[in-house]
Amino acid sequence: MTHLIAGNWKMNGSPASAKTLTSGLAAKVSAGVKAEIVLCPPAPLLAEVAATMGSGALTLGAQDCHANEKGAHTGDISAVLLKEIGCKFVIVGHSERRADHGETDAVVKAKAAAALMAGLTPIVCVGETEQQRERGETGAVITRQVQSSLPENATAANTVVAYEPVWAIGTGKTATTADIAAVHFQIREVFSALPGGAGAGALRILYGGSVKGSNAQAILATAGVNGALVGGASLDLDDFWRIIEACP
Ligand code: PGA
Repeated sequence: MTHLIAGNWKMNGSPASAKTLTSGLAAKVSAGVKAEIVLCPPAPLLAEVAATMGSGALTLGAQDCHANEKGAHTGDISAVLLKEIGCKFVIVGHSERRADHGETDAVVKAKAAAALMAGLTPIVCVGETEQQRERGETGAVITRQVQSSLPENATAANTVVAYEPVWAIGTGKTATTADIAAVHFQIREVFSALPGGAGAGALRILYGGSVKGSNAQAILATAGVNGALVGGASLDLDDFWRIIEACP
């Protein structure tokens, strides 16, 4: 399975920095690359990135979408429009959206369903908070999120899951590779019991949370890890490239 490396720029970047970063990456991947690379800039920069990335190994993704196809939803963006402007992926249920915008599993599930309907691959994020981890609830939280955030028609072929422990995002802390392997194994087990769960062995499960050049090799070589969702380090061309090169 080809590893998937997704760069989540979050609310960072400008037209100028998007052009510099994307053209730098496009030049590097033109020499060949083992991974599939997705760039998820803020929505106003999607067109800039699309125009700069060329037709090589880089693909475009968005950071969120609305559950509805169109309508009176000021400030929101439909999955259909994202597809039309060239996106292949959309992140849904990122912990920052769950926390900042009160997105529940049901909301995330509806967004993932909209993405699938539009022909996009949703990258559905799950992960426990520090408190939940300390209370020993990681397993229960992950099971509930996977069962409740994935639409019935999610399959290993059309959906990606990202395990992002909330306490590891932007903190410099990463889960141990043993913990990552255990949670990814669990996600695959829970997914396999869902309506579309046949062939769960082929489900791509990304790890996210302070992935950087210096720790990528160990994380990406961990059993059950099929790529990474990268925040901060995806804004630095050299560090992001080290992560891409670390793919086994
Ligand atoms: P980080 O973010 O790499 O900056 O920790 C990861 C994410 O939130 O997707």
